[in-house]
Amino acid sequence: MSHGKDKGMRAYYRDRAPIYDRVYSYPERQSDLRYLEQYIPEQFTDRDVLEIAAGTGYWTQFIADQASSILATDVTEETLQHIEKYSESITTQVVDAYDLGQLPATYTGVFAGLWLSHVPKDKLSYFISEVHSKTTSGAVVMFIDNSAAQCERLPITRTDDLGNTYQSRELDDRRRYEVLKNFPTEPELLAATCSLGRNHKFIELDHYWLFQYTIM
Ligand SMILES: C[S@@+](CC[C@H](N)C(=O)[O-])C[C@H]1O[C@@H](n2cnc3c(N)ncnc32)[C@H](O)[C@@H]1O
Repeated sequence: MSHGKDKGMRAYYRDRAPIYDRVYSYPERQSDLRYLEQYIPEQFTDRDVLEIAAGTGYWTQFIADQASSILATDVTEETLQHIEKYSESITTQVVDAYDLGQLPATYTGVFAGLWLSHVPKDKLSYFISEVHSKTTSGAVVMFIDNSAAQCERLPITRTDDLGNTYQSRELDDRRRYEVLKNFPTEPELLAATCSLGRNHKFIELDHYWLFQYTIM
């Protein structure tokens, strides 16, 4: 798999890891966050969860409270180091979301937060097939991500030929990165997963959306 569109994003999240969790203190997001912090872990009660692109583990900490086990993965070691401050029951591993081959095919839950928006449109089906190759029948798959309200803080700066959109992100020291940031719609998510799952559910909040289904 080539990662041309991925490079800027990886560097950005590696360099931003120490201050990444600031996004969870934005005042306008607090009400949605309290709802998600309760709803998400409930769906993974007693499940063996694979978390993809876990970053600094904001969602990992809540899921770990209810799941039987959780493996938090990310391509960037620097982000995973921040997960150590949470529960000792959390296992971390450097894993590329587009290459899950090294993992067992035994997960009964998969979660990815704020990740699908970074998947290029032409890689979405491939990524979904990777997820499915690591799960058992009846597994719960859940993705959450930003609603378009996020563009009020970070406007779209470019759209490429495939319809992928990009934002310019700046760190405190003024380093700038171009990051692919899409806003998948419910129909797009259903189209990518309808033949693979059942019980699809899309929840739209002011600042986030949540999409979940059960693997057949
Ligand atoms: C927006 S952050 C989300 C972090 C966390 N899930 C959250 O919701 O706070 C996106 C994450 O994707 C990770 N990432 C980028 N490319 C990746 C890839 N190819 N495979 C796995 N993770 C990747 C970044 O390192 C970063 O931690």
